[in-house]
Amino acid sequence: MRLAHLPTPLEPMDRLAAHLGGPRLLVKRDDQTGLALGGNKARKLERLCAEALAEGCDVLVTGGGHQSNHARMTAAAANRLGLDCHLAVAGGEPAVASGNLLLDRLLGATLHFVDAPRYYDLEAAIELVADRLRAGGRRPYAIPVGGASVPGVVAYADAAVELLAQLDADGSGPRADWVVVADGSGGTHAGLLVGLGGRARVLGVDVGTRPDLDEVVPRLAAEAAGVAGRGAPEGPVLVDHGRYGAGYGRLTEEAVEAMTLAARLEGLVLDPVYTGKAMAGLLAAVRDGTIGPSDTVVFWHTGGHRRSSRSATSPRSEAWHRSRTRDPPAGPARRRVR
Ligand SMILES: Cc1ncc(COP(=O)(O)O)c(C=O)c1O
Repeated sequence: MRLAHLPTPLEPMDRLAAHLGGPRLLVKRDDQTGLALGGNKARKLERLCAEALAEGCDVLVTGGGHQSNHARMTAAAANRLGLDCHLAVAGGEPAVASGNLLLDRLLGATLHFVDAPRYYDLEAAIELVADRLRAGGRRPYAIPVGGASVPGVVAYADAAVELLAQLDADGSGPRADWVVVADGSGGTHAGLLVGLGGRARVLGVDVGTRPDLDEVVPRLAAEAAGVAGRGAPEGPVLVDHGRYGAGYGRLTEEAVEAMTLAARLEGLVLDPVYTGKAMAGLLAAVRDGTIGPSDTVVFWHTGGHRRSSRSATSPRSEAWHRSRTRDPPAGPARRRVR
């Protein structure tokens, strides 16, 4: 079943690389997957929905915050397949829906506003909605937050294979030194570990979604590797826990800097919740020498609906933008080593 536009482009980011004084930078454009504004969930939903249909389910159930990209894309996938969609939405019902929540309504999903202040409260709420539907005679397919169950993870193992073929085709050889990706539920990171099979190190950047990434990413990777018939990934799982600032969805100055550099040097739009923080993690790893100047790095752009960028134009970040000239923030972090 096809829900995503694949393969997604792999593009160079030469101007950002030159600004940093190396390494070689590429961006994998999973913001261009096409389903209801695109993003990483399209790949996951292809496999999740295939399982739902195979099990004879008639309604998709998942959840997220008001601005959940995953919820929006699940609602869209349900429509493409003629299924219903119920969403557990963490938080109260706002007087006026905006951004992804507005799109959830436009897409016709049934919304259940739930009091779920912690990650696992929302997982429980999704199960509760599914249980109620089942009790009413429906056949629900429950998808965890972020689509982080084995089918979704296997989808990202496939995505890694797609990347390796693209690297090979452009003459780089079937490997990169690093892949950098935002870690929300951790499913994307886990799948990339499985598919890359050690042919690149993966740096996940924790955006503050869940508290247990260090346990969850290797567990999901091992489970998915078993299903996909691949070896369980070896070596340490690398997660940068230093970029989420005051918490999930809370703007950081580093993310604003990263978004500004990507926008002004590459014309690449990042969001402040996921990809802005992931790019901040990439910049920090280059600046502290974790990523070397002659390394090849793939930044995995996982999408993020722009309306969620409202926080990037808060008064505080407006001041940040105004304090900068048209040019990116000064000076290479390090000279290119030739
Ligand atoms: C735009 C975007 N990037 C990254 C992620 C994180 O992906 P994962 O949940 O697989 O860690 C999400 C998850 O919701 C997302 O919406």
